Amino acid sequence: MFKRTLLILTAGLIALSFLTTSALAKTYVIKFSHVVAVDTPKGQAAEYFKKIVEERTKGKIKVQVYPNAVLYGDREAIEALKMNAIQMACPTFSKFTGFVPELQIFDLPFLFKDRKHLRRFMESDVGQELLRDVSRIGLVGLAYWDNGFKQLTLDDHPIRLPKDIKGKKFRIMSSKVLEAQFKVVGASPQVLPFSEVYSALQQGVVDGQENTISNIYTKKFYEVQKYMTISNHGYLGYMLVTNQIFWNSLPSDLKNILKKCVKDATDKNWELSSKLEKEQLKKIEESGKIKIHYLTPEERKVWENAMRKIYPEFYDVIGKDRIKKALELAD
Ligand code: LMR
Repeated sequence: MFKRTLLILTAGLIALSFLTTSALAKTYVIKFSHVVAVDTPKGQAAEYFKKIVEERTKGKIKVQVYPNAVLYGDREAIEALKMNAIQMACPTFSKFTGFVPELQIFDLPFLFKDRKHLRRFMESDVGQELLRDVSRIGLVGLAYWDNGFKQLTLDDHPIRLPKDIKGKKFRIMSSKVLEAQFKVVGASPQVLPFSEVYSALQQGVVDGQENTISNIYTKKFYEVQKYMTISNHGYLGYMLVTNQIFWNSLPSDLKNILKKCVKDATDKNWELSSKLEKEQLKKIEESGKIKIHYLTPEERKVWENAMRKIYPEFYDVIGKDRIKKALELAD
């Protein structure tokens, strides 16, 4: 009898130690999909995130980064994330339009003055509430990442005033605000995924586009466009997101490490965005492949007056109070 009890006890202990070891050895994989090149603020910060997560979790969490839309394109990335086919993405706010339309606040032209203004808004109650809004679609908003302000490029003549883009076809991201922003100045917006922009410009499917210096440089748009205007008319930033299925499956110790890694990678992203912007603008200038015009303050005022007219159209979708709050945080 005693021998039998001992045997059962020993078997139990062995099973328990096996279970504990396998629980300890459990590893996690984060598939992180994005659409831009590696040498961008998002691409670099994603690589940095991978490095620190793998180091600090001692390999318990592995991060696989898929840049350049090799895994998923614009819209598919959010769908894949919702289904836990990937565990991380960092789409622009415009890409959330069909899911969380109030995020289009970031697309409103001439709403944000500079990066400091954006940081104030993102850190405000309203900005933090927008991060939580993605929980409606099963996601977890982790942080805001930056890529700076957008510039205009065109194939056949310089852009100084809104009338210069009248009748011209411009590629846009999928956002109603961006659509309205071009329509109000008489241009014709066309939604295209990021991965198709270069060939659309090259083949003349569209005449121009708007993007950040980093995207214009790394995707070589400046090689297939003749004119660029430094307009800083709109903002292009991102929300770093994971999904609730993955996030809730993590033990709390690993979750805490991940939170700290998100913070550090976010700092890295913001530090890199200003730095890369300067360096890559210089490289575009030095290439001599595109003529660059800087809007004068007077020209800028004309654009501002024309494009800001669209705000009331979006009071319902975005929330008039949110827009008011953003304006209040300008200084
Ligand atoms: C674009 O589609 O132009 C951008 O959203 C690409 C990106 O992620 O920066």
